[in-house]
Amino acid sequence: MYDYELMDACLKLLRDMFMLQPGESIAITTDTVSNDEIVEATAQAAVILGAKPLIFKIAAPAGGKAGDNDMPMKALIDGIKACDAWIEFNTKLIFYSTVYDKIVEDPENRPRYMNQNGVHPDLLVRNIGKVDNVLLGKFIMGMDEATKNAKHIRVTSPGGTDIEFDNEPGREFVTADGFVRKGEVKMFPGQISWAPRFDSINGVLVVDGSQNPPIGLVDTPIRFTVEKGEITKIEGGMEAKNFEEWLKSFNDPQMFRVAHLAYGFGPEAKLTGDVVEDERVWGCTEWGFGNVGAILTSDIPEGIPGASHSDGICLNCSVWLDGVQVLDEGVVVGPTPELVEYARKLGR
Ligand SMILES: [Fe+2]
Repeated sequence: MYDYELMDACLKLLRDMFMLQPGESIAITTDTVSNDEIVEATAQAAVILGAKPLIFKIAAPAGGKAGDNDMPMKALIDGIKACDAWIEFNTKLIFYSTVYDKIVEDPENRPRYMNQNGVHPDLLVRNIGKVDNVLLGKFIMGMDEATKNAKHIRVTSPGGTDIEFDNEPGREFVTADGFVRKGEVKMFPGQISWAPRFDSINGVLVVDGSQNPPIGLVDTPIRFTVEKGEITKIEGGMEAKNFEEWLKSFNDPQMFRVAHLAYGFGPEAKLTGDVVEDERVWGCTEWGFGNVGAILTSDIPEGIPGASHSDGICLNCSVWLDGVQVLDEGVVVGPTPELVEYARKLGR
């Protein structure tokens, strides 16, 4: 599928987003449960650009730190670290493993990186090939700045979400504007994630998109009551019950705490049950529970460890930044006419 379009999307990714130069080396990592076509097309795109691709395909490890023992750790660390750029297509993540931590530990001496965990041709063509990445990057950086500058934020949704929190001054955002410059670590484009002041998060979250892991797409919305950043009640149908059981199974209070939220700003992203795309559905907010990755807490270098992590999607959100509305049921209405115009040009 997308035999012709895939190469176009891969070229866009390497040439425009990674700004890959002739002679540079790029590590392309994957595993035995990931799509091979996208790996081949990315390697071909690198060659077209005069760069040098190097593919690392490993037997699929367990996810996160649990996968450490399954990976050829030293070979991966030394090999990837020696490259100028790294794109990770692995479905069973190197991201969050010790291999990843070692590769990126020195911001002055690491390959520039983009996370593309589990990405397949259809997803890449839709979300990169068919998107004006320059315009999306401008929109995302504008929204990032406006959100970062806010002290107090309220989020509601037609599904029943109504939650408020304060930002933690000085804590960095993780903003996927689509461009990967020297030394940068970026997520797949179309998302702004951040960790607010945890004990200031109060209200109700209604997840009506997907809850990943372990549920996937939800049939009956899951309603979370959150007090001072902690989940105090979970209501809904069978899925709510199953999810609560799953959280309890870790026997870890951190699993009942909000870890972050994120805006989804992928102009073409569809709700499919695949977390990479679900969390980019335009106008959604995604709420993470459990482990807080160090990338989200620049003021707490080790992050906040939790046994696992799950992301829930609230669709069609309205958002107010210090009382100024920027999203109205998923439609951009502020904070500036310029950002509204960018959103319209992106088809949103
Ligand atoms: Fe998350």
